[in-house]
Amino acid sequence: MIELKNAEEIQLLKLSAELVSKTLAEVARIIKPGVSTNHLDKLAEEFIRDHHAKPGFLGYSGYPKTLCTSVNEQVVHGIPSDYILKDGDIVSVDCGVLLNAFYGDSAYTFAVGDVNSEVLMLLKRTKESLYLGIEQAIHGKRIGDIGYAIQSYCEANGYSVVREMVGHGIGKNLHEAPQVPNNGKRGSGQVLKSGCSICIEPMINMGTKQIVQENDGWTVRTKDKKPSAHFEHAVVVQEGQALVLSSFHYIEEVLGEKEF
Ligand code: MF3
Ligand code: CO
Repeated sequence: MIELKNAEEIQLLKLSAELVSKTLAEVARIIKPGVSTNHLDKLAEEFIRDHHAKPGFLGYSGYPKTLCTSVNEQVVHGIPSDYILKDGDIVSVDCGVLLNAFYGDSAYTFAVGDVNSEVLMLLKRTKESLYLGIEQAIHGKRIGDIGYAIQSYCEANGYSVVREMVGHGIGKNLHEAPQVPNNGKRGSGQVLKSGCSICIEPMINMGTKQIVQENDGWTVRTKDKKPSAHFEHAVVVQEGQALVLSSFHYIEEVLGEKEF
């Protein structure tokens, strides 16, 4: 069942999403060739705890870290490690927090140093597809309208949409109803209502949509080892226009013209 949130709950969700957004911007400050993904994780955890919140993913189904850091062909749920980011990598950083009993969840794919222009285009298009999905998160539209907007845009650009993992409702739980696929048919699925809080998170591949689960039990990568991008915002369905709770503004301020 979809739990609709009232104004007070939305305010709390907003605070959680703000903290996630600021944490991702802190991470953005230090991403460069030579830095390990563990170092990003450590900084994110400290920043979250300094703001009187808890990492939202740590301990979730036994997940061992604060961030997911998925490099190049890794789609999602890459575990921070001693891996040193190198020039030309991309890294999808997914972050969750728990603050005042409400979760925040957002993700951004960063370019490390000089990245091939074809790969940069994948990042740009994936981010654009997220906003196209958000445009559909309006009272009276349906879940399938979100997936359709994302899928049709990405496929028209020659990319593929991962099916196995989807967006989700968010609130006092990290994952709530409804599921929010990144593919779909217009006018299909559950009707969206004002107060429905969801995370929209396209995972878009340069090559095949097929994925493989690595033996660490978490990391998901593309089958053909071509790159994958992931952007995520938490939003609330409203009349007329979705309320976007998380923000890439802080990240984009840090990246400046380095942003693709
Ligand atoms: N944003 C991802 C999701 O919604 C991250 C979950 S990582 C996990 O599924 F560790 F919490 F599972
Ligand atoms: Co999510």
